[in-house]
Amino acid sequence: MGKLIGPKKIKTAIFISGKGSNLKNIIKFSKNKNSPITVDLIISNTPKAKGLRFANQFGIRKKIFNFKNLKESEKKILSLLKNRNIKFIALAGFMKILSKNFIKNFKGKIINIHPSLLPKYKGLNTHHKAIKNKDKFAGCTVHYVTAKLDSGKKILQKKIKITSKDNAISLAKKVLKEEHKLYPAAIMKIFS
Ligand code: GAR
Repeated sequence: MGKLIGPKKIKTAIFISGKGSNLKNIIKFSKNKNSPITVDLIISNTPKAKGLRFANQFGIRKKIFNFKNLKESEKKILSLLKNRNIKFIALAGFMKILSKNFIKNFKGKIINIHPSLLPKYKGLNTHHKAIKNKDKFAGCTVHYVTAKLDSGKKILQKKIKITSKDNAISLAKKVLKEEHKLYPAAIMKIFS
């Protein structure tokens, strides 16, 4: 009898700009038998993104687009994604804003992780803002990407306590740890 082969995993591209700890975490998750996705491509807007090393480490194709001309970069990315039959995009610390037109091409198929309890603190410096405002809670949110920054429908959110000892750096560390649990859980939720 032949070996049973499960349903094909969804080919996914991860977009990064920085360290890539979420990227690494998603790659590891994708290797689980139960993961609905396989990471086929890593896209960065800068060659300086430290996370690009995970492409070499895990043998995943990587590509850099400088986004100096947004329209042109997006056009090239869309054609690459199409050629590779990529059906799902996860933004993981990707610091460029994608255009309406790009998002339209992947409607409901792009998700993002944001280090705050959205709708609170869209944009940058979320931890700094939470500390400055003496918030009692911080957290992270995985949401669908729409043309409006950090505003798409929530998939999952995790809340954590801010203690009196926390500063923006310690808080970022704590939240990142939760991000690494939340992102795979959100991907499971979408495809279950
Ligand atoms: C993460 O904290 C992620 O939530 C945040 O950037 C960090 C990337 O870390 N994303 C945003 O701020 C998007 N607006 P990583 O490169 O180690 O995954």
